[in-house]
Amino acid sequence: MAETVKVLMIGDVIGEPGMKALFAGLGELRRRLGADLVVVNGENANSGFGITKDECDRLFGLGVDVVTSGNHVWEKKGATELLDSEPRLLRPANYPAGAPGSGLARLELGGRTFAVLNLQGREGLYPIDCPFRCAEGLLAVLRAQSPDAIVVVDVHAESNEEKEALGFWLDGKVSAVAGTHTHVQTADERILPQGTGYLTDLGMTGPSDSVIGVKTEICLRRSLTQMPIKMETAEGPAVIHGALFEIDGASRRCVRVERVVA
Ligand SMILES: [Fe+2]
Ligand SMILES: [Fe+2]
Repeated sequence: MAETVKVLMIGDVIGEPGMKALFAGLGELRRRLGADLVVVNGENANSGFGITKDECDRLFGLGVDVVTSGNHVWEKKGATELLDSEPRLLRPANYPAGAPGSGLARLELGGRTFAVLNLQGREGLYPIDCPFRCAEGLLAVLRAQSPDAIVVVDVHAESNEEKEALGFWLDGKVSAVAGTHTHVQTADERILPQGTGYLTDLGMTGPSDSVIGVKTEICLRRSLTQMPIKMETAEGPAVIHGALFEIDGASRRCVRVERVVA
């Protein structure tokens, strides 16, 4: 087999438990898996909701190459300035024109060009621009400028149907499509017919004893009473969830997808 490139994508980091899990485990995980590029979804890194410069700097300090995000990225004070000043922090590309920041990052690593695209679904979320057409337009420009770029996509979405449809829409156009947002890792990793590695959701990097990262007792009260009780990030030991995509360097087709639980 020709030389391969490995991209490690990690799901939504939940507050300090998630940040601490990465501090303790990401270096060893990256070495063990031989990852060339590390992409982490940071939309919940600050106390479960949003992200600030502090978490960004800490993630980049751990060797994370690109931080993706999603619907919660706007929640902390300073989000606009942070997104406008830090090109390695992405927000979903299909927010309408005028939103701060960018949804696409291009970077040179080890003599290769990589690109990371962040999209957000609309089903069960917000009626932002169409992620399918947004991706098509951005990829056309990217391919004209960097035809050999290895492109990976974080699809931040609620709906499995929308995620799978985007996977097939991008099949053969990018090397990997990984979902985020639901915080529960799915077991449907596979290589789509045209060579794109796919997983519906990477899962979260957060406290194990929780409901999607939130204190269990709060989620139970919310469910039982249907009251909008304020969510709080759970505490305790956390697990890293993600996936490794091994990509043929010449064809840019994915040759292996491995779910990661660490
Ligand atoms: Fe999330
Ligand atoms: Fe989200």
